[in-house]
This record gives sequence, C-alpha cells and structure tokens, in this order.
Amino acid sequence: MLSNVVASQIRTHAPYGGVVPELASREHLQNIVPVVRAALEQAGCTLEDLDAIAVTEGPGLAGALLVGVMYAKGLAFARNKPLIAVNHLEGHIHAVLLEAKKQAQMLAQPTLALVVSGGHTHLYLAEETDGTWRYKNIGRTVDDAAGEAFDKVSKLLGLGYPGGPWIDWLSQHGDPHAVPFGPITVKQKPYRAPQKQSPRFLFSFSGLKTAVLRYVQLHGMKPTIEARHRTLTGIADAKPLHALPLCDTETLDLIASFQRAVVDDLVRKTFAAGETFHTASIVVSGGVAANGELRQHFLAEGRSRALPVIFPSLELSTDNAAMIAAAAWPKFVAGDIATATLTAEPSLALG
Ligand code: KG4
Ligand code: ZN
Repeated sequence: MLSNVVASQIRTHAPYGGVVPELASREHLQNIVPVVRAALEQAGCTLEDLDAIAVTEGPGLAGALLVGVMYAKGLAFARNKPLIAVNHLEGHIHAVLLEAKKQAQMLAQPTLALVVSGGHTHLYLAEETDGTWRYKNIGRTVDDAAGEAFDKVSKLLGLGYPGGPWIDWLSQHGDPHAVPFGPITVKQKPYRAPQKQSPRFLFSFSGLKTAVLRYVQLHGMKPTIEARHRTLTGIADAKPLHALPLCDTETLDLIASFQRAVVDDLVRKTFAAGETFHTASIVVSGGVAANGELRQHFLAEGRSRALPVIFPSLELSTDNAAMIAAAAWPKFVAGDIATATLTAEPSLALG
C-alpha cells in the first residue's frame, strides 16, 4: 500500500445526524480530483505508472457512485489504462486480505466474512480458487444495518455523528448489563435462497433501536438529551470526551447495554453460521469492525473455539480506497476488465 487518502465527509453530514445524498454527491465532485492527485503524490508516482484503475461500482448512493464511475472511466479512457469494477462489500473483505498478505499470513479457507457497516450487516462464505474469489451470501439484516443502529441511537441520545465511535467510547463508562436487552430473534421463517437451499442467518436491529427509544420515554430522559444535544452543538469539533460529563449513570448504562446487545447478537449469529458451514476462519470488516468491544468478543470467542478471527487495522475498517485496489488486483490478473458500458449499480449484490 503506497498511499491511502481518505476525504472525510463527516463534518458535512454531522449537523443532519446522517448522510444527506445530495451533499454526498457534491462532496465527491469537489474531492475526487484533489484526492487522486494527493494519492499519486504520496505514492511518488504518476498516472502513467499505473497498471490499472479500479472503481467502486456499487452498492451505495447512486449520485456518489456515479461521480466515481464517470471519473474513473474518463481517466482510464484518456490514459488508455484497464478499468476494473469493484463491489464495495468485496472491498471490505479484501481490506483484511490485503493486511494478511502483508504479514504473510495464510487465511484458512473457506472463510466466513461478516461485513458490518452503516449500510450492511451481511455474512458471506468466501473462497479463492486459482486466484479468483467467490462469495455466497448466507446472512443479512432484515431491516437496519448494525452501523445504522449505532448512528440512530447516537442521534436519539443527543450524541454525535457517526454514532459508532461515540457509543464505543462512552460504553466503557457504563454497565453493559444494566438494561437487560435480551437476545435478538427475527420472527420470520428463515429465508431459503431459491436454488441454493442454504440456511440464512438473519439480523435485525430496528427493534433494539425502538427498545432504546421506549426506555428513554419511560425514564423521562428527553429533557437531558435535548440539553446535551444543545451543549454539544455549541462545541466546535465536539468529541465523545465532551459528552461524558453530560451523561448521567442511567444514560451511560443504556449506551453500554445497547452496544452489548448488538455485539452479542453479531458474535452469536456469526459463530453459529461458521459452525453450520464448517468455516476455517472468520473475517470481520466494515466500519462497525472498528468497535473495541466487538473486537474483544469476537477474538475471545474465536480463541475458545480455536477458530482464527481476523480484523483489518482500524484505518482499513472504515471506507477507504486501498481496499478497492486490493479487491481489484485478482480481477486485473484474471483479465476481468470493465467495458465502456460500466455504470453505477446502487443495489449491486455480492455472490
Ligand atoms: O464501512 P463504513 O465506513 O461505511 C459504510 O460503508 O457504511 O461504516 C460506517 C459505519 C457508521 O454507521 C459508523 O457509525 C460505524 O460504521 N462505525 C462504528 C465505529 N466506527 C464506525 N460502529 C461502532 N463502533 C465504532 N467504533
Ligand atoms: Zn463501507
């Protein structure tokens, strides 16, 4: 990895407590040229030195994806370079593989990949044969993604955006068992993929979010939440540290209990899926993979079962360009080059 430049849009979306699609596209437009220039400069190379250009094809917001796809197509055409289309979720999985390769680690196969981000909570069986990776989707969320639940609960409690890092940090100061959120069950017949007949592992986080809301209402927490929100919006570049003195024990316990419930659910279902499919390793990636408690619990459970669990570094857990290049490499080697008809695919599936 010669360079990995990230243009964060957090400041733009923070006042809204979530991503505003129109603003996201505009930011992409403004940032794409400077980011590519900075990436080349930091890598000490020019466009001419590149073997190929890789771009995220989907899934994601149409406007933001289109900016990337059109720019990459233009660049590839103008410089006569091969263009590689990459699925964003495959990118998250390859963030782990990139680092495993760097440390000359062999990933025991088949591997089970949990991609857990703001838009996804998906389980894939991933296997490589002759340099080509294949994926089979065996689990997903039926409503909110885990990251989305972190973001919504953070907003609900008057904390900052994105919610994950706030809840992660503040949870250390609360009792994770104070609010007895039970195991999450999905009241739905397990979905069976039409041809493959493989069991599906279903996640659901919107019920837990509603349970947090009910708790807030029942315990009359609204006035303190509003006061906290007002104070934090008055602080330039507010951090979770600023929120600590604004949270009473009840709030910190609620935060820690929410996080514990999400982590328990992700660990329980992922290992159950690993057992069902006899996987030899587990890979956890996506923004929520940056969560401290999630890492600890996954690693401890993996140790107790003698099943290797691998996370990307914090830097490569959240969205980045290096993971897209890493996922593109095997495709480049295999000659899997995109054609001029490539376009953004907002609901592109993997596997
Ligand atoms: O992968 P990502 O950067 O973007 C998407 O593809 O969605 O993930 C962003 C998500 C957000 O929902 C954010 O709250 C969550 O990842 N996140 C975390 C943490 N850091 C980021 N969730 C829990 N704990 C964290 N430390
Ligand atoms: Zn992502």
